[in-house]
Amino acid sequence: MSVVKINVLAVPAEQREVLEKRFASRAHTVESSDGFEWFELLRPVEGTDQYLVYTRWRDEESFQAWMEGPMKAAHQGGGEGGDKPRPAAAGSTLWSFEVVQQAEPKRA
Ligand code: HEM
Repeated sequence: MSVVKINVLAVPAEQREVLEKRFASRAHTVESSDGFEWFELLRPVEGTDQYLVYTRWRDEESFQAWMEGPMKAAHQGGGEGGDKPRPAAAGSTLWSFEVVQQAEPKRA
């Protein structure tokens, strides 16, 4: 059964654009990681002011393998040499879930 890992980011209002731009130029390495199934960056609209980085994985092992390797490279940030830029997020929390049920639209 798949697992969902959500990184919850507290982003000060003036840093939102910076965060979204960083994701727009993200490493795109996660797509080629074994066991990776889905990614979404979710911008808060109502009920919370935290951004969610939604990821879904075939199993816990796949996520752990990504965390120990490619994840680190994908979080160097900014690109273009120089110092590592200051994180746009002021804080983060990792949520973990097991997928117990799922559905997709019926296709004709
Ligand atoms: C330590 C706290 C973390 C912060 C502040 C953070 C923030 C960011 C930022 C700003 C990016 C855009 C690229 C960059 O600038 O480096 C990014 C990429 C990403 N983050 Fe995080 N992140 C954290 C940890 C995590 C964790 C634990 C996960 C697991 C769900 C995660 C999932 C991702 C994914 C999937 C990408 C895209 C990587 C790619 O395209 O290959 N992040 N993160």
